[in-house]
Amino acid sequence: VAEVKGGEDEGAAWVGKELTVRGWVRTCRAQRTVTFVEVNDGSCLSNMQCVLTPDTEGYDQIDCVTTGASVIVEGVVASSQGGKQKVELKVSKIVVIGESDPTSFPIQKKRASREFLRTVAHLRPRTNTFGAVARVRNALAFATHKFFQDNGFVWVSSPIITASDCEGAGEQFYVTTLLSNTAEGGCLVNNIPSKDGRVDWSQDFFCKPAFLTVSGQLNGETYASALSDIYTFGPTFRAENSNTSRHLAEFWMIEPELAFADLNDDMACASAYLQYVVKYILENCKEDMDFFNTWVEKGIIDRLSDVAEKNFVQMSYSDAIELLIRSNKKFEFPVKWGLDLQSEHERYITEVAFSGRPVIIRDYPKEIKAFYMRQNDDGKTVAAMDLLVPRVGELIGGSQREERLDHLEARLDESNLNKDSYWWYLDLRRYGSVPHAGFGLGFERLVQFATGIDNIRDAIPFPRVPGSAEF
Ligand code: 4AD
Ligand code: MG
Repeated sequence: VAEVKGGEDEGAAWVGKELTVRGWVRTCRAQRTVTFVEVNDGSCLSNMQCVLTPDTEGYDQIDCVTTGASVIVEGVVASSQGGKQKVELKVSKIVVIGESDPTSFPIQKKRASREFLRTVAHLRPRTNTFGAVARVRNALAFATHKFFQDNGFVWVSSPIITASDCEGAGEQFYVTTLLSNTAEGGCLVNNIPSKDGRVDWSQDFFCKPAFLTVSGQLNGETYASALSDIYTFGPTFRAENSNTSRHLAEFWMIEPELAFADLNDDMACASAYLQYVVKYILENCKEDMDFFNTWVEKGIIDRLSDVAEKNFVQMSYSDAIELLIRSNKKFEFPVKWGLDLQSEHERYITEVAFSGRPVIIRDYPKEIKAFYMRQNDDGKTVAAMDLLVPRVGELIGGSQREERLDHLEARLDESNLNKDSYWWYLDLRRYGSVPHAGFGLGFERLVQFATGIDNIRDAIPFPRVPGSAEF
């Protein structure tokens, strides 16, 4: 359907040609002599209006042509009398492939709430909104690879199971599995390790505690220290017990790592990348973006066009704190230097102070940032940057990495982290260390930002959040 209706002429060039459409019935309207069946095949938002008459082969099955049923329709493309579309299909033959009981099919024509649709996540891609989100998400993934590939980055697969906690926030999921010595021998038994160290790790599958990764960065750094610019793009996991509209337990992250680069290079890459993918969907997903503009977030196209064209605001953390104090606004978390910015502060900065523009904040206090970030000369801050956008808040977090062995060892000690378990990471600083920098972008937050969808649970096909891993 996208091939027929997607062109500038909305299908006019197809008039008179034969066409077969395979898809799912959205609606079926019977009039006196003709029956209109709207069929969607998922290739685009538009349905194909299919016109059936009693002469149509298979018309005897018309009672089974109900919302949700799968059908194959064959016919000839014709100009449409109705104002809604340029062309329709005069159907010569219809075959019902899979029936759908209209009394129990959960997705009816009336608009269902997003909350309800989350309970039928297996069927929600059949709706306009979730079909459009899925296509735009796909386009953003494609544009991501295209941007980095065109700029000479190598895609590296970082592991999903790991023994290191990149962010040091203790939010990992254990994947530890004990090998039990039962009579049957060697069967695997899932076991949650006890915190008091009574677990006999020699009996464990990995012989040490292992987790689902929270970030591929540390592994990415090893490849950037050999291949120069690389990026990862894969699932990451965080057991944060936060029921918010911007946190998932399983989310996809894009993590470029630039060799021979500093924080300015990192910010320039993040800005260029974000502008590229935004421009890409505005140009390549017009129909879906128009849909979001009308039904999901009014004005999103103008907002994104601005993002694609205008420079982002840049300011230091210290200046951001000053701006928040000068605002005289009553925040739930009082503002003072050293505070980790909360979403209320981030929203004020992007939404109020800079009326909707992305803002990059740099040089954060070292106490609130991860051990691997490079210390600035002031001794108080690190070369970190966060990119904030309206509604979503933090879209990107990045930094220049500490490439000096002595500084990094001191930071590990300060952070009470065990140097021995980072031996391979420290090796990168022992053998041919280079200044390098990178960032992580939460892919679902990008989908939220790009579609206007306000809950992150609607930006991924199957959301994983506390208390829910259905489907
Ligand atoms: O700021 P974060 O924790 O940074 C890192 O993980 C670094 N290792 C990245 C790097 O420098 N290579 O996470 C990066 C981004 C955040 O800005 C946010 O967009 C997203 O990941 N993110 C989440 N998205 C959804 N659900 C969660 N629970 C998220 N936690 C972080
Ligand atoms: Mg962060």
